[in-house]
Order: sequence, then structure tokens, then C-alpha cells
Amino acid sequence: MTQGPKIEEFEKKFADYIGCDYAVAVANGTAALHLAAIALGVNKESKVISTPITFAASANCILYCGGSVDFVDINPETLLLDIDLLEKKLSNAPAETYHGIVVVDFAGMPVNLEKLKAIANKYHLWIIEDACHAPGAYFTDSKDQKQFCGNANFAELAVFSFHPVKHIACGEGGMITTNKKELYEKLKMLRTHGITKDEKLLKENHGGWYYEMQELGYNYRLTDFQAALGISQLSTAAGRLERRREIAAIYDEAFKDMPLKVFPAQKRDAHAYHLYVIHTKKRKELYDHLRGRQIFCQVHYIPVHLQPFYQKKGFKKGMFPHAEAYYNGCLSLPMYSSLTDSELNYVINSIKNFL
Ligand SMILES: Cc1ncc(COP(=O)(O)O)c(C=O)c1O
Repeated sequence: MTQGPKIEEFEKKFADYIGCDYAVAVANGTAALHLAAIALGVNKESKVISTPITFAASANCILYCGGSVDFVDINPETLLLDIDLLEKKLSNAPAETYHGIVVVDFAGMPVNLEKLKAIANKYHLWIIEDACHAPGAYFTDSKDQKQFCGNANFAELAVFSFHPVKHIACGEGGMITTNKKELYEKLKMLRTHGITKDEKLLKENHGGWYYEMQELGYNYRLTDFQAALGISQLSTAAGRLERRREIAAIYDEAFKDMPLKVFPAQKRDAHAYHLYVIHTKKRKELYDHLRGRQIFCQVHYIPVHLQPFYQKKGFKKGMFPHAEAYYNGCLSLPMYSSLTDSELNYVINSIKNFL
């Protein structure tokens, strides 16, 4: 209910940037996923598919609603959920086993949602696109149109995070995008306790003070301060995205003849480069070597199904071999728009020095 004017301004500007009709600002990306799952009706009967190579929140949001999660392995070249394996899994399962898919534009690489949607339609599944890594990325569809991540032309809902390491940072923050008005209205209510004061939606009206709690919602509001920061971040986002692409091109060039695996399929179409990932058998040694030189790399991600919590749910090592093989050697190199050329050269030279 009580939200300042910057929220609406941020939502409108974000929707324009992404190219969708509606955007709902929330407290963080995890809250965005949770509300998206509620809005699509996830409950204890729901079985939803996701990818093992993502941040756990992409799968956890289904569990918050009492549903269960299953995974489909990644394609080892794109690192995205393997759409052919998905189709195989769906065609082998009894009809109506699964209800939806949470798909992730991992590292900033756009999922081909046109292809995914064709399968989702065949098996009556909804799609949540976790676009937390990918504002500004796009794939080119079969009509040669650019489809920007999160534009909700194929997914019912898409989510973004404004965590400090993301392209657009608000301290903490998140956004849900959609082209469906009824989902938009529902999400606005859910983010603020399920309460509405909208006269058109009230069942009764006792006067100016009157409100109704029509759903079980949460306090998942973004503050006006954060929205103001988001608006300012958005105004420079395109330039910062270009710098990330420039850094990726410099890494690509530097590593082309080196005994390291990069992911050429990751370059298809316009990548947002939230992460720049390499793969090496000597990951631990390289990680430690770089750390010794004050270069702090990360590993994205430990496969979700290998987390102890998911193991207790029956997932086992060996179930998703491509995800596990990827995890065994992956390393995310420094990638952020304020990385200077000399810092970048220092990283590259330190890696060359190690190899
Ligand atoms: C792919 C992905 N999904 C969801 C989230 C959750 O976002 P947040 O940290 O804003 O809750 C993150 C980020 O941390 C993420 O990387």
C-alpha cells in the first residue's frame, strides 16, 4: 500500500528498458521468485523443473509454496538447461506430471525461450524466467526479432535481482516483469500483505480508510530510497553492459590459445556477461594462485542438487553429470564494469603466469 512515487517511476522505466508491459518492484530477487511462484498457483501438488546450475533461490521458491522441484541437466556448451533433455524427460513422464519450469539465463546468456515455449505449450507448463543475470541480453527469434531477457513474450513471468553484484544494483532489490495484467494486479497485492485499497477491487467500501486483505501476502516492498538508486543505475545500465561485453572480448582474445576452456556457445547472440566463466582441471590451484595475488574469483555454482538440503530430498551425486563436471572445473573471473584495463591485464597476466 504505502509506497513512494519513485517505485512507480522505477517500475515504468524498468519495463521500458526490458520491453514488457508491467513491472513490480520487490525487496529482492528471491522475493520476486517467491511471489512469481505464488501468483502462478504453485502449491503442494505442483512439480516444477529447474536447472542445477543456478543460485538455490531459483528452486527454493517452489519449495516455499509447498511444491517439489526436479532438475534437468545443463547443456555442457551453453551451460543452460538442456532443452532436448527436458523434452525427453517430459515425453517419458505420465501426462500432467509437471506444472512449470523455472529457467535461468545463467551468466547472462539468454535462454531461447521461443524454443522452450513450444515445449511448454505441448506439455501445458508455465515458465518463470529467472533473468537475474541477464538484463539487456537478448536472443534472436525465428522471425529475426530481438527478444530481450525478461520481456515476458514467452514466459508468464520473469524475475530480476538488484543485489550489489548485479547489473543494476539497489543495495538489495528485485523486479518481476509480465505482460499479463491479472498477474500484475495480483503481484502488486501479494508484495504488500495481500492488501488492496483499490476501489475497483474492494468487495465492500466503508470509507476513505478502508482496505481489504484479499490474499495471504508478504511485506516484500522495495523502499523509495532503493527505487531512486535503481532509477539512477538504470540510466547508466546500457553503458555498463557495453563495458562488460568489452571485458569479455578482451578475455576471449587473451585465452584463445591457452590451455583453458572458455564457452564459445555462450557468446551466441547478445550476452549480458554477469559472469565470465572458464573451466580448468586445475581450478583449485588457479583459484589459490589468483587469491595470492589479491584476485578474488568465485565459483558459480555448486550444483543445487548437491547441496545437503537437496540431498536429503533424495537427489544424489551422479544424477546430473554435465552440471557436476562443469562444477568440478569452473571459475568465474573478475567481471564488473568498473574493472580497469590495467586491472584486467593484471588478471590475464596472472593467469598466463600460472599456466
Ligand atoms: C540466478 C539467481 N536467481 C535468484 C537470485 C536471488 O536474488 P537476491 O539475491 O536478490 O535475492 C540470484 C542472486 O543472488 C541469482 O543469481
